[in-house]
Amino acid sequence: MMIILYKNIKQLVQVRDEGIAYVQGQEMKDLPVIENAWLLVKEGIISDYGSMDTCPQNNLYEEIDCIGRVVMPAWCDSHTHIVYAGNREGDFVDRINGLSYEQIAERGGGILNSAKLLQNTSEEDLYEQSLSRLKEVMELGTGAIEIKSGYGLTAESELKMLRVIKRLKEDYPIAIKSTFLGAHAIPEEYNGNADAYIEMLIKEVLPQIAKEDLADYIDIFCEKGYFSVAHTEKLLAAAQKYGLVPKIHVNQFNAIGGVAAAVKYKALTVDHLELINDEDIEILKNSGTMPVALPTCSFFLSIPYTPARKIIDAGLPLALATDYNPGSTPSGNMNLVVATACIKMKMTPEEAMNAATLNGAYAMGVQKELGSITKGKKAHLMITKPIHSYVTIAYSFGVNHIESLML
Ligand code: NIG
Ligand code: FE
Repeated sequence: MMIILYKNIKQLVQVRDEGIAYVQGQEMKDLPVIENAWLLVKEGIISDYGSMDTCPQNNLYEEIDCIGRVVMPAWCDSHTHIVYAGNREGDFVDRINGLSYEQIAERGGGILNSAKLLQNTSEEDLYEQSLSRLKEVMELGTGAIEIKSGYGLTAESELKMLRVIKRLKEDYPIAIKSTFLGAHAIPEEYNGNADAYIEMLIKEVLPQIAKEDLADYIDIFCEKGYFSVAHTEKLLAAAQKYGLVPKIHVNQFNAIGGVAAAVKYKALTVDHLELINDEDIEILKNSGTMPVALPTCSFFLSIPYTPARKIIDAGLPLALATDYNPGSTPSGNMNLVVATACIKMKMTPEEAMNAATLNGAYAMGVQKELGSITKGKKAHLMITKPIHSYVTIAYSFGVNHIESLML
């Protein structure tokens, strides 16, 4: 049996004796830490921990000395689009020169541009491109990741994306959840006829996804110029029959009532929320639906940040994720997400760490196995380089403080 004893850990962070689903409101300010700690991992499962004065003394275990280092649960990135082809550096420069994200999309750039590229990319090539992004985020401490389709926008190419995600799931030890986001944009062939596109996704794609077991969740971009609340409800109702739980894009540019629709269909998460009104907050209370903020998307697009203070101070939970995608966030760095949440959204480091680990795990349905240092959970851990404390990760931004990821 493989047993590893991590010794002399400067701080063992996010230690929860009881497995809890998530933290909300005031609870988010509390990040349980053991200073100068040890941690025992048996066959990849957390088996025990404590402070160094109680450290097991024998030579039965493989020992790893973590002197000066912080050990934490690996990041749980609950919202990404890392399966895509090429890049959108052209859009990036257009935006610098004054065009808005919406104007670029109206000119046929944006998501449609990425879809064209992906349609002309082979499954093998797409797998290779996506794999290099997966490896890149693992280097940055991510140990669980949700990945969406949504750059195919035809039955064939959406299925191609989902098959790539399935292969990544099978081939790599990182925890992966898969989300069907066929309703990400209205493809050119359906211009002015979003109803027919939704109909096609329901009739042609959903049954095939169920047959090949290609997705865990359903997503839709509920937004002016994309899909309405009525489209959202129709798709979520159809997906429910196949057991797909919603995790949806809402309130990025406009609040059009998507939050209420999401909660009605028992969504696991509502993501973006750069705009959120009081009514949305009331609807989310005690719903089990987790709000998810994507601060590096706001940073990249220069749009408002999700009002974390308003959300948390109302007693709600909040998760943080990257949104890694070619158009609005070409970066999968959870360390930068945590730093940005502290700097721009006024989250405390404790709130941000909770949002990126325990709450992130809930936001992708892996909270029973991941997201905290709890006996019986999987030891998906990150070990930092020698740093002052976990606060360094949020404070000293733009630097990779992660030395290794254990899966
Ligand atoms: O989450 N908002 C919708 N989808 C992505 C951006 C997609 C793109 O521009 O390629 C997002 O930000
Ligand atoms: Fe997204």
